[in-house]
Parts: sequence; C-alpha cells; structure tokens
Amino acid sequence: MKRVAILISGSGSNMVALARSMARDHPARPVLALSSDVGAAGLDRARALGIPARAIEHRGRAERAEFEAALQSALVDAAAEIVCLAGFMHVLSADFVARWQGRLLNIHPSLLPLHRGLHTHARALAAGDAESGCTVHEVTAALDDGPILGQARLPILPGDTAESLATRVLGVEHVLYPAVLRRFAAGDRTPLHLP
Ligand code: GRF
Repeated sequence: MKRVAILISGSGSNMVALARSMARDHPARPVLALSSDVGAAGLDRARALGIPARAIEHRGRAERAEFEAALQSALVDAAAEIVCLAGFMHVLSADFVARWQGRLLNIHPSLLPLHRGLHTHARALAAGDAESGCTVHEVTAALDDGPILGQARLPILPGDTAESLATRVLGVEHVLYPAVLRRFAAGDRTPLHLP
C-alpha cells in the first residue's frame, strides 16, 4: 500500500478527488496533506477526510531552502512514498526534485507541452486553440516538462471565457489525476488518455 502525500496551496479540490479515490480497494492511501498557505481551504477539507494536514508557509524566495527543508522533513516523518502536487503553486528546486524524481507527480491545466506556466486558460483562448484540457506528469527540474502520465482533452466552446474553461478543465482534472495515481501506485506508467 503506497503512502501518498499531497501538496496544495489553496482550495485543494484535486486533493479531495485523490483522497476520495483511495478510499476503497486501491494500491495507495493518503498519509499527509501539506499546504504552502496557512489559510488554504484545503487544510480543513483534508482534516474532514481524516488526513493529517499542516501548513508549511512559503514566505518568499529568500527562504526557499528553509521551506523545502521543512517539506522534506514532514514527508520523511510521514514515510511518504509518492508525492502529488495538486494545486501547489511553487516551483521546487532541482535539489528537492532530485530527491523525489520518479515519485513526484503534478497536474497542470493545459495540454502540455502547450502552455507551460501560469494563466493557461486565457492563453489557450488567446491562441485560438480548438481544445484544451489537463496533464498529469512526473516532475523534473524543468517547469511543467516531465514525462507525461496522462492527459484529458475537451473542446473549447464558442463564448468560453478563462473562467468557464477553468471550471470545465477542473472537472476533468478530478477524473484524470485519480485514474493516473491508481495506475502509477500499481507501478504502471503507461500514459492514460481521456476520453
Ligand atoms: C487547478 O487547475 C490545478 O490544475 C492548478 O491549480 C488549480 C487549482 O487546483 N495547478 P486545486 O483546486 O487547488 O486542486
């Protein structure tokens, strides 16, 4: 039974979807939720699901080494074997990634390699893309660039705004990430494509 830690920064809707997916016959279970923001709504949502949750505040780049040392200590204390970034809004250092590479996953709200970085929905609309979606990938030192483990696609509709697109993409994120984690925890890295 793989021990999964989930890192968040805000609402934690992906963390909730992952945690609920591990509730029954599943090769993994959630052992810790960590938030970079003390005010993250996801902290109480994790506790409501019975998951130990704590904040490790990210106070800016000056203290990144201190922040990551605290993350590492909490992950080791929880004996985490897989780390899922889920709405986690910080770039991790190459040193931290090196310690977890191969066991560190992220979900990104675009069809990578399109639209790495922020504001993906507005950029997809501005680019006139016919479709959008989300990608689950292994995290490497390069931003939003690691081996793809799964993608979910959906059409961009006439009249879509960044907000309406974000809402629809978030809905498929909650399907894709749990499906990818189930396979990944069972040792299967075959990329999953939805639909
Ligand atoms: C999601 O779109 C996720 O892909 C991005 O942050 C957004 C919020 O995620 N990284 P969550 O609701 O906090 O899981």
